[in-house]
Amino acid sequence: MMARTLNTNLISNKIPYEIYESSKQGAIAVAQMIATLIKEKQRVGENCVLGLATGSTPEPMYAELIRMHKEEGLSFKNVITFNLDEYYPMKPESSQSYHYFMEKQLFAHVDIKEENVHVPDGTIQENDIKEYGASYDKQIADAGGIDIQILGIGNNGHIGFNEPGASRYSGTRLITLDENTREANARNFSHLEEVPYRAITMGIGSILKSKKIMLLAWGDKKADAVQKSILEEATESVPASLLQAHNNCVFIIDTAASRLL
Ligand code: PGA
Repeated sequence: MMARTLNTNLISNKIPYEIYESSKQGAIAVAQMIATLIKEKQRVGENCVLGLATGSTPEPMYAELIRMHKEEGLSFKNVITFNLDEYYPMKPESSQSYHYFMEKQLFAHVDIKEENVHVPDGTIQENDIKEYGASYDKQIADAGGIDIQILGIGNNGHIGFNEPGASRYSGTRLITLDENTREANARNFSHLEEVPYRAITMGIGSILKSKKIMLLAWGDKKADAVQKSILEEATESVPASLLQAHNNCVFIIDTAASRLL
């Protein structure tokens, strides 16, 4: 299925955006852009470095990439991935971990090389996290930098787990989750009390180094954060608004998420 854009605002003076009729249409469009880049890089013998997100938002995009792998032979052999975040502490084998999420949603279904997959390690000793964060950012740089960074957005405007107040210069580090985020993510745990209080996340500075950024947002609950990020002044109290500083960032949204634009 070809995804059809309902409306494109590529000349907004803050952040350009594309509106799709449904999340599925938007997700397919993003998967097609990713697949195009993977194949272009294959043709010239290069790796394609993807920055990946978890949460419900990218799920239909991963489903489409898996379909392309199975039905159209899209190979992930030249793909290197870096995930945005992981809860802390968190064992990779836990069904609530983002390691587990990524295995289930994408990695187990495609031909990506295990050594090319990177998800922040939620088992690092606390004293070592600072060094670990710096080494995660260095690994990204050593891989050539992120070609396409995929982001979701929190109801509070967070990107990755960079909560309101996060510095635009931040690198990968340990953070404390907002209560709002813990509540939004409690659906994946049996009780709110089980949701970790902290996480390791790529920083806003790490994200802004990506060559291209695509932020996906579906549904009415995201409309307010999308509006503030795209139309209002950039501020650290709405982390996604800091993407205004990037020269190759686009928001891919559905009609419900575009309600306030
Ligand atoms: P969601 O989360 O995709 O589950 O809505 C997005 C986010 O918190 O970044």
